[in-house]
Amino acid sequence: MKSELYSKHAEKYDAAVQNNIYNAHLERPSLQAMLGELTDCNILDLGCGTGVYTEYLFKQGASTVTCIDYSQDMINLVTNKLGTLFGNRITAYAHDLTKGLPNEAPNSFDVIICPLVLHYIEDLSFVFEEIHRVLKVGGYMVFSTHHPFADFECSLSGNYFERERITETWNTVGEPVEVTFYRRSLTEIMTAITSNGLAVTEITEGKVDEKAKVIDEKTYEHLSKNPNFIFVKCQKMA
Ligand SMILES: C[S@@+](CC[C@H](N)C(=O)[O-])C[C@H]1O[C@@H](n2cnc3c(N)ncnc32)[C@H](O)[C@@H]1O
Repeated sequence: MKSELYSKHAEKYDAAVQNNIYNAHLERPSLQAMLGELTDCNILDLGCGTGVYTEYLFKQGASTVTCIDYSQDMINLVTNKLGTLFGNRITAYAHDLTKGLPNEAPNSFDVIICPLVLHYIEDLSFVFEEIHRVLKVGGYMVFSTHHPFADFECSLSGNYFERERITETWNTVGEPVEVTFYRRSLTEIMTAITSNGLAVTEITEGKVDEKAKVIDEKTYEHLSKNPNFIFVKCQKMA
């Protein structure tokens, strides 16, 4: 689901997520806490955005990182920021994940991350089929997505179990930008994972960092008491 937030506003988005509450003090620390030792790992960063995670993965010792995002503006930012630093250890290209991962070889990644991307994709099953194909046996994927309970608050149908396309206006970059995503049940997310040969090994609901208190106390209080994202680790057993 394309949004100008990740194309026209890519640079502003990059600046915003460096130190905002939702990304820097809730989502990233919560997802990073689920990653194991990354030294010498070949990692796939799905929906890499501006490369904040990519840089982190290299700092943790990743051998190579492949970055995929359907926004060419995001890929340009990643290449400009990290291309020279990491040379041939980084591959970054624009591609729509709903078309699968045709450029990636079977059994080629130790770790896959996919932070805050899956709510933009309607058919999760095909994406997980492809993730299973390109992961090495024993390798794992960690992703975050909107928490189904949080998203149910914006349901128009009132039917939690029915997938819904939702359009909202967000102020992430300091001006209103429309964003469209899919709201879905926890059952739908879990079924997409397990019916494609992956085993769920950990689920968390994240924890907002106390540092967020000084940025915006009201938002900090809200996030301390209400789930916003869900974090899942799943492994390829065979
Ligand atoms: C909220 S941003 C997250 C970026 C990055 N993962 C992070 O956490 O900083 C979502 C990203 O997913 C990308 N995206 C959304 N749908 C996609 C799709 N079907 N294929 C590839 N990338 C997609 C967007 O372009 C955007 O860069």
